[in-house]
Amino acid sequence: HDTGPKYTYELVKDISDFVMKRIHIKPKVGIICGSGMGAIPEELTEKIEIEYKDIPHFPISTVQGHDGKLVTGKMGRVGVICMQGRFHYYEGYPLSTCSMPVRMMKLCGITHIIISNAAGGINPEYNIGDIMIIKDHINFLGYGGVNPLVGAHDERWGPRFVPVNKIYSEEVREKAKIAAQRLGIESFLREGVLSITGGPCYETVAESRMLHKLGADAVGMSVIGEAITACQAGLTVFGFSLIAGKCPMEYSVDSEISHSEVVECAQKREILIRKWVLELVGILIPSLPSD
Ligand code: ADE
Repeated sequence: HDTGPKYTYELVKDISDFVMKRIHIKPKVGIICGSGMGAIPEELTEKIEIEYKDIPHFPISTVQGHDGKLVTGKMGRVGVICMQGRFHYYEGYPLSTCSMPVRMMKLCGITHIIISNAAGGINPEYNIGDIMIIKDHINFLGYGGVNPLVGAHDERWGPRFVPVNKIYSEEVREKAKIAAQRLGIESFLREGVLSITGGPCYETVAESRMLHKLGADAVGMSVIGEAITACQAGLTVFGFSLIAGKCPMEYSVDSEISHSEVVECAQKREILIRKWVLELVGILIPSLPSD
């Protein structure tokens, strides 16, 4: 039985040292861009890109629609490090590997993290194209013993036992709503509970109904592991899901959700999401650091 995550503190420190040597800014905010949301880095100035394949020990993202690079730069005066492309459990990586970049960004100096994905809508009131601010989550993988924090413990990453009942910062969620009002996009902004499947299958009708009964508003294949790792590390966490399809609640529904439909929906919302994230980053950190 494998008791230790591959990425020791020293190994992740080596990766963050490598990244810090190549960039000019001090990152304060980390952003993990979900499916088709890779346009967020276009809002950055003083941009520097580093491909994952050029970073020693970094995993490679294998999913179509996901790039594989870090992009750093500034949003206004705030230093930002974006992951364009992430790692999923269904690619065969342990969850500790999927969320290793969160720790890498923590060592680069971030204090806040924004994590996004595309998700299937469970709440019948949600429409395709809605943006759901994540208020809470149901970590189904965790109940099967799959958690990024499983294995040998290193105090330097944070506590062994992590309270997660306040994982998604209420203060940032409120700021995100203000940012949405400023852009006039509140009409399709939602706030709800994200659940997770290991993927790569989407949901059956019975599974969709179960998720609804259990209090989930949406279901995705990512975010939750990264958010848990960030919470352990003491980062302020904000998450949102783009509702890219509706999960099937009836056997009579003919249509099937598809990856291309998910990517297409994400592309339609791309510009708006990136303006919203820019607006949010502008009000995220109350007093700006001196750098
Ligand atoms: N990502 C996009 N749609 C999804 C769905 N229905 N289930 C899980 N992950 C998704």
